[in-house]
Amino acid sequence: MQPKPVTVEGRAARKVVAGHPWLYANEVTSRAPDLADVDLVLVHDPDGKPLATGTYHKHSLIQIRVITRRAEAVDGDLVARRLDAALARRRAAYPDLQCLRLVHGECDGLPGLVADVYGDVVVIELNTQGVFLLLDEILDGLEALLAPRAIVLHNTSSALSYEHLEPRTEVLRGALDGPLEVDEWGVKYRVDPIGGQKTGLFLDQKENRRLLRRWCEDRTVWDVFAYAGGWGLNALAAGARHVTFVDSSAAACDQIHANLELNGFTNATVVQANGFDAVREMEPGAVDVLVLDPPAFAKTKKDITAARRAYTDINRVGLQRLAEFGILATSTCSHHISPELFDDILGRAAFHSRQRVELLVEGGQSLDHPCHLEYPESRYLKTRFLRKLPYHP
Ligand SMILES: C[S@@+](CC[C@H](N)C(=O)[O-])C[C@H]1O[C@@H](n2cnc3c(N)ncnc32)[C@H](O)[C@@H]1O
Repeated sequence: MQPKPVTVEGRAARKVVAGHPWLYANEVTSRAPDLADVDLVLVHDPDGKPLATGTYHKHSLIQIRVITRRAEAVDGDLVARRLDAALARRRAAYPDLQCLRLVHGECDGLPGLVADVYGDVVVIELNTQGVFLLLDEILDGLEALLAPRAIVLHNTSSALSYEHLEPRTEVLRGALDGPLEVDEWGVKYRVDPIGGQKTGLFLDQKENRRLLRRWCEDRTVWDVFAYAGGWGLNALAAGARHVTFVDSSAAACDQIHANLELNGFTNATVVQANGFDAVREMEPGAVDVLVLDPPAFAKTKKDITAARRAYTDINRVGLQRLAEFGILATSTCSHHISPELFDDILGRAAFHSRQRVELLVEGGQSLDHPCHLEYPESRYLKTRFLRKLPYHP
């Protein structure tokens, strides 16, 4: 497919040169007359110098997403090279892991595409209209690289509406005969690529979940907003005395039960409840380790004020309920909440709960979810491990 010319304003051109992959509708100053609503475009600066090739979607706020800044064709060869490079980077970080994020959108030069590998099955999300232009090349490339048993499309994100995409879940290549069983660092999971959340697991928290193990032996742990129970399962693997899992979704609670059985863990309770209520109702001082891993409270910029309040509230109450010297592992997965803002929120939560806290670890997304400094939106996951200290030392 031949890219059609568009021109962007000077500041936007400098942004592209500096490495940012997004161009907004108001930054595009001229478009080829034959440009389709969804198309491939060659971006020019105001002097007519070509800068980058990317996908275009007329009805999206992010109108252009850059695929390459080189003078090269966007075709099956480029997709294959991108997939090859993505796999090499993942294998360098995680040579033996069965479950990996292979492609993380813009950060792997394939905007809009997420591809997660679960053993011999690949689950993809196609988050933009533009990436559908390359669907055949992506499926062929994945088959050539990994020879998977199945490639499943799992498009259920609420963000699809920004791209005017309908939710869609189906097996695109090969066949799938039900949920899978996978292993992540000795913890077994049942994964349902069709009925689960995201692609089946939240792979971005794997490093943080593993890190939690060091504080869990013989401890009482709560895993709130638990989904498949990854944090609590790691706690149990590390010898936790008891874990209480909380999630509002019945399907998630079923999955936790299945995962407990799969791993042979019995010292656990699964509660289907609102996480905010569950934390409020916890007996003060009875929790040694508390994990808070909620969904993104700020999905757009407009949500930041309300999200700030919600994060402050749940962390404040959590710190109050936690035993002295207890550990709070708390996360935000919203790119609108910057690392600085999250630290500020946690500082306020500690202040309002009349606690002192020690920052033990600043965690982020695992190494298969790369973030680029020139593209700050890619740094979406922030996890802090805090220790609650006595107010008067
Ligand atoms: C980011 S995911 C958790 C991922 C999980 N901790 C892991 O490591 O795999 C957020 C979870 O919160 C759940 N959830 C959303 N709103 C909730 C609420 N108000 N109370 C409890 N759980 C909620 C969702 O069902 C989802 O499973």
